[in-house]
Amino acid sequence: MTLRHDAFLIPPPKIVPSILSADFRRLGEEVRKAEKGGADMLHFDIMDGHFVPNISFGPMIMKALRSESNLPFIAHLMVEKPEDFVEPVISAGGNIVIFHIEACRYPLRLIDHLRRRGVGVGIALNPTTPLSTIKYVVKYVDMILLMTVEPGFGGQVFIPEMMDKIRSLRSLMIKQGLRKDIAVDGGVDFNNAPQIVHAGANVLIAGTSTFGQSAIEEAVKKLKMIALEAYNTLIEQGSESFRVKP
Ligand code: DX5
Ligand code: ZN
Repeated sequence: MTLRHDAFLIPPPKIVPSILSADFRRLGEEVRKAEKGGADMLHFDIMDGHFVPNISFGPMIMKALRSESNLPFIAHLMVEKPEDFVEPVISAGGNIVIFHIEACRYPLRLIDHLRRRGVGVGIALNPTTPLSTIKYVVKYVDMILLMTVEPGFGGQVFIPEMMDKIRSLRSLMIKQGLRKDIAVDGGVDFNNAPQIVHAGANVLIAGTSTFGQSAIEEAVKKLKMIALEAYNTLIEQGSESFRVKP
């Protein structure tokens, strides 16, 4: 029997290439290749040199690419004061705004503001930030992003202990009957993608394995195929607890 995806507590996988690894001399072209390869969204790492020890780009890069793509844009705010960046990223065409729990004193207030502005909401956690910090906000957001490397740079290696964190977060959501996106960000590649999906993550953010490859379209296609295959196995073997209760 084939299970319908919407009867399953884990949403289907999405591949989200991260602009950070793209060739900045020809961003428009690169984005079109990723879209052709089947990318589901695009990921923009906005860094301020304070929250992370690196500076990338601001909302104007999103704005410049808005006319080049129909994909939803995720703004990953790796900044000290996420509140200050909300309006600029929304007017630049951001569709989902992700802020770090470590950088926000009043997350419920910020979530409420983002909802009123009509955008999707996500919360990001650094690798060593415990899941208990989001226990009371998880039901109000669309996505939890687990950093699987220390934030700030592309091209790092996936921290193996994060597999367990993904599993714990998925079971926390399932216990609450929540069907939300779990995104992983950092060191996602063709080899660890099946394990990541089996652990319960469904949004794969990847820079090196997408824009960092010489054939971007094929790389995105390949990552998507691997993730879909792993997801289908998960559904087939999935325990009753993953099913949406009628
Ligand atoms: C890291 C950024 C990531 C980065 C991932 O701080 O948040 O989005 O682009 O790059 P890879 O896939 O190369 O680890
Ligand atoms: Zn990111």
